[in-house]
Amino acid sequence: MNLPNMKNAKLRGLKTVEYKKQENLFSSNYVGKKYFIRTYGCQMNVHDSEEICSMVENLGFQKTECLEEADLVLLNTCAIRENAHDKVFGYLGRVKHLKKEKPELMIAIGGCMPQQESVIHNILEKHPYVDIVFGTHNIHELSKLILNHQKKQEIEVYSVEGNVYENVLYKRDSSITAWVNIMYGCDKFCTYCIVPYTRGKQRSRKMEDILKEVQELKDLGYQEITLLGQNVNAYGKDLEENIDFATLLEKVANIKISRVRFVTSHPWDFTDRMIEIIAKYDNVMPYIHLPLQSGSSKILKLMGRRYTKEEYLTLFHKMKERIPKVAITTDIIVGFPFETEQDFLETLEVVNTCKYDGAYTFIYSPREGTPASKMKDEVSNSVKEDRLHLLNRLINQYSFENNQKYLNKVVPVLIQGVSEKDQNKVYGYTDTMKLVNVIADQDVIGKIISVKITDAKSFSLDGEMVVTNQK
Ligand code: 5AD
Ligand code: SF4
Repeated sequence: MNLPNMKNAKLRGLKTVEYKKQENLFSSNYVGKKYFIRTYGCQMNVHDSEEICSMVENLGFQKTECLEEADLVLLNTCAIRENAHDKVFGYLGRVKHLKKEKPELMIAIGGCMPQQESVIHNILEKHPYVDIVFGTHNIHELSKLILNHQKKQEIEVYSVEGNVYENVLYKRDSSITAWVNIMYGCDKFCTYCIVPYTRGKQRSRKMEDILKEVQELKDLGYQEITLLGQNVNAYGKDLEENIDFATLLEKVANIKISRVRFVTSHPWDFTDRMIEIIAKYDNVMPYIHLPLQSGSSKILKLMGRRYTKEEYLTLFHKMKERIPKVAITTDIIVGFPFETEQDFLETLEVVNTCKYDGAYTFIYSPREGTPASKMKDEVSNSVKEDRLHLLNRLINQYSFENNQKYLNKVVPVLIQGVSEKDQNKVYGYTDTMKLVNVIADQDVIGKIISVKITDAKSFSLDGEMVVTNQK
């Protein structure tokens, strides 16, 4: 048994990261057995689940979408806010019930939640029926944990930063778009954020390994890749070679895969050269997710964000000027400790200036072990909710106005599948990351087609195909 320790998770040791080849275990022990997986949280977790699925399928398991059918239930969890945490324990109640009827059912919990000591204590005390608990640094050990599992609860969570594994197999959800990790962890330590503790120290993958993966995806026919990291602009800072994100992005663009995207950016490390590369290459999509978090420099300082409102706005305007038709979205937290009405009004002011294409908005949620959780939280719940409501109204208004500008325009859309709401339509995304439902035949799935926009709502566009660019 290996238990997590948040203090150790905070340490940034001098130990150099090792680049290891992952051993992929194959077995037929579980042929005919079924697994069910539920993923919470960010794109990083979604991509980790693709690794988890590959691992358990290599042990013989087959995927099921029906919880009741499963012999193995996997929960890949998120710790970013309290409600993510509550959802997992709520769901676990359902799974516990199932195990009563089916005692041989195996339950495994992984991801960010088990990296927290309090979660492990909770599992040890109240959820003894959970079979396997693993963390973010040892996903690669899951096959072994399953194969070795006897009756006893197994908890294997490490709080020292993991190594970088290459040779990882993924069962990718899509054959059109793919995630590509470029780095793991984060060293920014924004005061509200649990990620530097749950995901550990920043570890960049070597450029040659990333380029090899992108080339392979292109050869397999993928149309789009998204470079993934908690803070992609900091890519390379931990490598010995003098490589930065702009250099990587340019090399990736030169592989000539149709679409290149990246998430998430931090305003602090966003260089002019990055802006230049995004503007220069047609296959680097004109879409940037640029978290603001707050429009008040006082709150930004308390958050440890390392930029002021003015610096953020300067960067924002530079992007808008230099990257033709760029769409910019953001993340905003309301109700951070000491946020006054005036601070909140400054956030609204920045939103009014930036007129974002979209935003994810959150009520501040204290995370145990982070510096902000020790600050006196003076904002009442009802004030937090009112602020969120007001902010969302404004955000939706600008999403709607931005989308309206697309009316009657012809835009390139990468078609990704059949529309959920209407089986006679397909759906895809513009280069600027707008969701579009399109009247077109299903044989355009996987292609970039020209679409005339016929209707624009706050969260999506409607359109009809005009001509196909055979890609
Ligand atoms: N409370 C509320 N929102 C948070 N985020 C991160 N940590 C917290 C927290 N403790 C938000 C930030 C980040 C996004 C992924 O989640 O806005 O950009
Ligand atoms: Fe969290 Fe800040 Fe790192 Fe983003 S940059 S993952 S908000 S610590």
